[in-house]
Amino acid sequence: MGIPALIVEDDDFLAQMLSKVLTDAGYDATVVNDGHAATQSLSLHPAQFVVSDIRMPKLDGIQLLHWCKKNAPDSKVILMTGFSNIMETHEAAEIGAHGFLVKPFKREELLALLDQLGAPPGKCRPAPDTPRTSASPEAPHDSTNVFSEGEGKTGQPGSSPRAAQTDSDFCRLSLEDFVSGKRIPYSVWIRISECRYVKIAHANEEIDLPRIKAYKEKNVVHLYLTKEDFVRYLQQSLTISANLTKSAQISKPKQLHFLKHAGDVLQTHVLIEGVNPESYRAAKNYVKAAMEVVGSRTDLMTLLELLNQHAEFLFAHSLGVALYSVMICQQLGWNSAPTTHTVMLCGLFHDIGMKEIDAGLLGTPRIMLNQQQRSIIESHCARGSDMMSSVQEIPHEIAQVTLQHHENCIGTGYPNFLKKLQISSLSRLIAVADCFCEYAIRNPDHPKGMHAKDAFQQMSQFKKSGLDAQFLAAFEKALFG
Ligand SMILES: [Fe+2]
Ligand SMILES: [Fe+2]
Repeated sequence: MGIPALIVEDDDFLAQMLSKVLTDAGYDATVVNDGHAATQSLSLHPAQFVVSDIRMPKLDGIQLLHWCKKNAPDSKVILMTGFSNIMETHEAAEIGAHGFLVKPFKREELLALLDQLGAPPGKCRPAPDTPRTSASPEAPHDSTNVFSEGEGKTGQPGSSPRAAQTDSDFCRLSLEDFVSGKRIPYSVWIRISECRYVKIAHANEEIDLPRIKAYKEKNVVHLYLTKEDFVRYLQQSLTISANLTKSAQISKPKQLHFLKHAGDVLQTHVLIEGVNPESYRAAKNYVKAAMEVVGSRTDLMTLLELLNQHAEFLFAHSLGVALYSVMICQQLGWNSAPTTHTVMLCGLFHDIGMKEIDAGLLGTPRIMLNQQQRSIIESHCARGSDMMSSVQEIPHEIAQVTLQHHENCIGTGYPNFLKKLQISSLSRLIAVADCFCEYAIRNPDHPKGMHAKDAFQQMSQFKKSGLDAQFLAAFEKALFG
């Protein structure tokens, strides 16, 4: 006698297919066609596993899950889901479903999930594929063993749950990025709670307008990709992707070392006490993924390495300005991938001209510098702008921001005493994050850095008139919720 498993599916064809797979694998499979019949069956014949559809007549998958939690707590419930079931999937995960399978799925995925949930491997089971996590590249579709919803979809495997999820494994995408009719060539996940994500769609599923509208009505704001997929998504979304062939010129260990160092700096120097952790995490995940794109280019990576070697605090400052600028950008709802990436690059390179300024001068508190020394430091804007103008295949805004980030709205900034409307909006945005980081992140003027509230209070008190009010307000909201 095999392990008892109950299949709950109103599509007869799919139900019979599932039954055959489980029976062949040595399970004692029973089939019912709705949730109500499932409760009757479970009352008479307890099952170790319940594999159920979500949308069914009489009693749906969520109601059945509730019933099982109360009346059959030893049964492990696996729900078959899809993009159209996003809200139900969220609810089911919160109630405590044991597993999810995104339709269409392969038999190996079902059997692997049962294994993970504690069923001993069946003797008559066909050898499964190499176990996949969603982070692995999606393998070609094998239509001979896929359970489809009968909608002619091109299914992809890969719905097994990730063994150990952390929030750093995922990057969020705004719902605005899911344009109606667009196919996202990556698996899509929803975040249930801290470090808990559930896959809701396979790569290349099309999302139609009614579905996006329904999500918005339910206050779904973000969907998630794994970090690896997000990097690929960014590379494809950005104009600079054409230049990524240069990646072959950078040795992998060198690139990994650079990225690890950047990740460490984000964690140790850029994270400021008192910052809203949710906003910080989202921006940090974005910056880490975008840094991989930057790290694929010899020229950009070399510039940052030189800056890092020249003055380490400036590298931390630049990463900080990149991160807090992205935070403002996300708060403003500027969510398109090219826009966010441009903002991030502007933050990262705004002070690149500093690498040509004497390190001893940079390490001296400003108050101790004379006028001539200050002028030398202020030349970093023009130097940086020249530098970034000569870099190929990057957004042209970067050179402008590099030149203008010390201008201010009242016309007393440098180098050109521009007034608010003469300063590009990106430069005004970067100026807000730059000002915050000058107070908050350790540097020769503030060797201990500052608590986020204190830094924001200081910049509001001393720099407010020169900063753009709209960006300052968005930043305050992002920082403190
Ligand atoms: Fe600067
Ligand atoms: Fe700066």
